[in-house]
Amino acid sequence: MVLRVTADVWLVRPWWYLHRKRALGTTATLAPKTVQPFEAIPQYSRNNWLKMIQILREQGQKNLHLEMHQAFQELGPIFRHSVGRTQIVSVMLPEDAEKLLQVESTYPHRKLLEPWVAHRELRGLRRGVFLLNGPEWHFNRLQLNSNVLSPKAVQNFVPLVDVVARDFVEIVKKKMLESAHGSLSMDAQSNVFNYTTEASHFVLLGERLGLLGHDLIPDNLKFLRALHSMFKTTTQLMFLPRSLTRWTSTRVWKENFESWDFISEYGEDHCLGCIKNMYRELAEGRPHSWSVIAELVAEGTLSMDAIQANSMELIAGSTDTTAIPLVMTLFELARNPDVQQALRQESLAAAASIAANPQKAMSDLPLLKAALKETLRLYPAGAFLERILSSDLVLQNYHIPAGMLKSVHVETQEKEDVPMSYHFVLMPSSSPLLTFRPVS
Ligand code: HEM
Repeated sequence: MVLRVTADVWLVRPWWYLHRKRALGTTATLAPKTVQPFEAIPQYSRNNWLKMIQILREQGQKNLHLEMHQAFQELGPIFRHSVGRTQIVSVMLPEDAEKLLQVESTYPHRKLLEPWVAHRELRGLRRGVFLLNGPEWHFNRLQLNSNVLSPKAVQNFVPLVDVVARDFVEIVKKKMLESAHGSLSMDAQSNVFNYTTEASHFVLLGERLGLLGHDLIPDNLKFLRALHSMFKTTTQLMFLPRSLTRWTSTRVWKENFESWDFISEYGEDHCLGCIKNMYRELAEGRPHSWSVIAELVAEGTLSMDAIQANSMELIAGSTDTTAIPLVMTLFELARNPDVQQALRQESLAAAASIAANPQKAMSDLPLLKAALKETLRLYPAGAFLERILSSDLVLQNYHIPAGMLKSVHVETQEKEDVPMSYHFVLMPSSSPLLTFRPVS
């Protein structure tokens, strides 16, 4: 985890990437036997000016995860460094993450994503759960827990994801059979991104966008481009203070704001469409179709502004996070054909029961679930979490003060690991080429 401190604010960021008791091959000594002051925590020294220049030149910190990995190897499971006046402490062991979560209050204090907050402030827009702290965050989060994150919500959206997944598989299968070689090699990343965006939009707003086919509606294509450009520019801006990037990166800020403007207008239009649909269904005496937004509107606890703000953030938070683990699972299955074969057997055995009841996908595919979890362990999409501590804590005996497709085989020629780079989520530096071939 990493602790970040500005003046008297300490920020903690757990590093989920490493799970072992000691970082691999660490040369660091074990934790001290008696509690030591904060200043005794091993310090990761780097030249902050050079770092800033490097971030500007590279347009982000693509190797952040590797740098962190190396720092843990050299310094052990806890170290500190500063960015400006902010002190950051990083920890990586599950036991330390557990302690941090145990001292977390009802209102955990997170460092908010500055470029996203800047957009909402400048445009006078409300913020959703990802960009709030304190009681307002808590209130919004309680509404989303029951409609997005709870097992009951998952039960509601599994059938919708199932429909989109079946369409996606059919399209891949069709392209594969139509191709002259009888197999299909494709850029998995952009295709899977379209699939997860389609699925998440269906779950959130109850509407299909048609992103899986060839002929995209121009507005939907613009929406996809806006999402990509918002993620790209966020990574270019998030590591440096706004007071600096407003001078050094005006073009990037402009692109970021224009992308968010498009996403928010698009989100607003589609939210309104979803609400109109819902009232039409109710006026016709039918129960309204289930979607996250329809449920939030029906409950009436969140204001319309708050619902729109959350829908925009949920769209942004549910596409890359799901696309990358799916691509990496396909990649690992492609280079581990035995596991792929075992998964195929499992899904063939469960196919009839899942077709009759999509909920069964949650219980009848334990090996698939394990494969997805293993992918998230190997390639954690959210590479770290941050918390600003609200009470004193001892970690590693150092004192941290308070106030801070069933019939398709997937192949790849790539035997080597795929280099990952940090772009807001951890993703492959270049999309692995995957080939889909019918199983003979
Ligand atoms: C494999 C895919 C995903 C990964 C790796 C992921 C990762 C994360 C992480 C790391 C957090 C922050 C937890 C914390 O600060 O304690 C989070 C929060 C959250 N995620 Fe996801 N997520 C994924 C998919 C999704 C999807 C599909 C949705 C919604 C449709 C979603 C909705 C949320 C919400 C509502 C929160 C709480 C935000 C808050 O309280 O500020 N996530 N997710």
